[in-house]
Amino acid sequence: MEYFDKQAIDAKVASMLPFQHRWHNRFHLEMPFGLINDPNGFAWYQGEYHIFFQWNPLGCVHKNKCWAHVRTRDFVHYSRPELALWPTDEHDKDGCYSGCGVAERKRLRVFYTCNAKDEQGNRSSSQRFGTLQADGTVKKEEFAVMHEPEGYTAHFRDPYLFTRHGKQYFVIGAQADEKEPRGTVLIYRETEDGWECLGEPATRLGQFGYMWECPNLLHFGPFDALIFCPQGLEARDYDRQNVYQAGYIAGHLSLDGMAMLQHTKFQELDHGFDFYAPQVLNHEGRHILIGWMGMPDRDDDYPTREEGWMYSLTLPRELTLRQGHIYSQPARELRALRIAETENTVTADSAARVESDLSDGSEILLNIKLGEAQNVDLRLRYGLEHLTFHYDRHAQTMTISREGMKNGARGVRRFRLYVDEMLSMHLFVDKTAVEAFFQHGEEAASLFVFPEKDIVPSLEVEADAPMETVTGTIWQLDAFRYEGC
Ligand code: FRU
Repeated sequence: MEYFDKQAIDAKVASMLPFQHRWHNRFHLEMPFGLINDPNGFAWYQGEYHIFFQWNPLGCVHKNKCWAHVRTRDFVHYSRPELALWPTDEHDKDGCYSGCGVAERKRLRVFYTCNAKDEQGNRSSSQRFGTLQADGTVKKEEFAVMHEPEGYTAHFRDPYLFTRHGKQYFVIGAQADEKEPRGTVLIYRETEDGWECLGEPATRLGQFGYMWECPNLLHFGPFDALIFCPQGLEARDYDRQNVYQAGYIAGHLSLDGMAMLQHTKFQELDHGFDFYAPQVLNHEGRHILIGWMGMPDRDDDYPTREEGWMYSLTLPRELTLRQGHIYSQPARELRALRIAETENTVTADSAARVESDLSDGSEILLNIKLGEAQNVDLRLRYGLEHLTFHYDRHAQTMTISREGMKNGARGVRRFRLYVDEMLSMHLFVDKTAVEAFFQHGEEAASLFVFPEKDIVPSLEVEADAPMETVTGTIWQLDAFRYEGC
């Protein structure tokens, strides 16, 4: 087991803030060294949001998984990220894997997967609680479940607690041990004698990948949504184009019948290249999602590895469920990042091309009344390089292309987007992280670009015929502030 020196690691993080490298984002959570992934333990406790996330402080590889921790009241001002939880014993020696948080009256608890491998490489996964202490560390406490139930493999991780009718449950990612391993989730209920496994909620999905990671169980009025990250699905023309997906089914969860009833098809939460393992907090009637900006098994695609750090978390998004579909919008707190004096209006009538300067960090709201235009390109231009969003009205598809970028992975991602007359886009353009929301949150896409030169991008909108009107607003965005920086 590696030795983790919290004091030294925290001091090193503090000494490297604010971030120096030009690929570091200004308004996305990330770390100055090591590799981060899934958001964990997302909770609201004593007036602050607590965001934990997977972190290997020792290198840019998926090993030595710890939990880092930040606090924020407003998603703009943050405490300095610190090491909170790390491998210490035989149960979690190979990683403090993902889990959730739950605020109680007098304590903030976390619930995580202890990952360990024996000498033969056999995995064991157990689920353990912990409590955040005043010194910023998580004190490890009782285990809820030591092993997966009969009929499942040790790919048994990422518990997410929820309550129904006053009772505590958790849903957890699992793999049925069948001839062809099958991804699923299991649900547990708290009883006086501990946690009882209720089994898998039946779905109509059948064999749907070999593993489901990072489930979340959400309640939207009379509906339930099961979010999960299936692995092993084939890419299709208009979806599932990343190696692994993050999406959901919405319906009605029957805990008595152990079934997800009348559920929708599986839909992805994001269509970009770099989105996985989201975690959702329900707080004061809002469902707030934070995702990992990255992708498992694709580390070679990310050139920041050579700089000693990798990946980001997405901006917080607010989810709503309408007619079986989850809409995501940037959390309203992010408006505080707008620098008022930089507000710049875009208007054009009957133009086939519109251009605008951007800032070092921009938010762009655009409404394009298509008129005669059938094909529209929205381009972020970085000198000779560019990132393109191409809307094809006839095919009703949006295509995001990184083919015009030099560094990092290229390729395209394509998805269905229905636009009648007005194409609406809402973009957050950070140094390398770009988050896009389409048609008022109907779809979203998160991705990185790694511009070769340190250039502030410009915006171009170009169509194959004059667009009736192009209107919008652009703001320069301020950076996140870290305590003491
Ligand atoms: C998802 C995941 C989780 C696991 C964690 C380990 O990205 O593989 O299933 O708990 O990452 O870092």
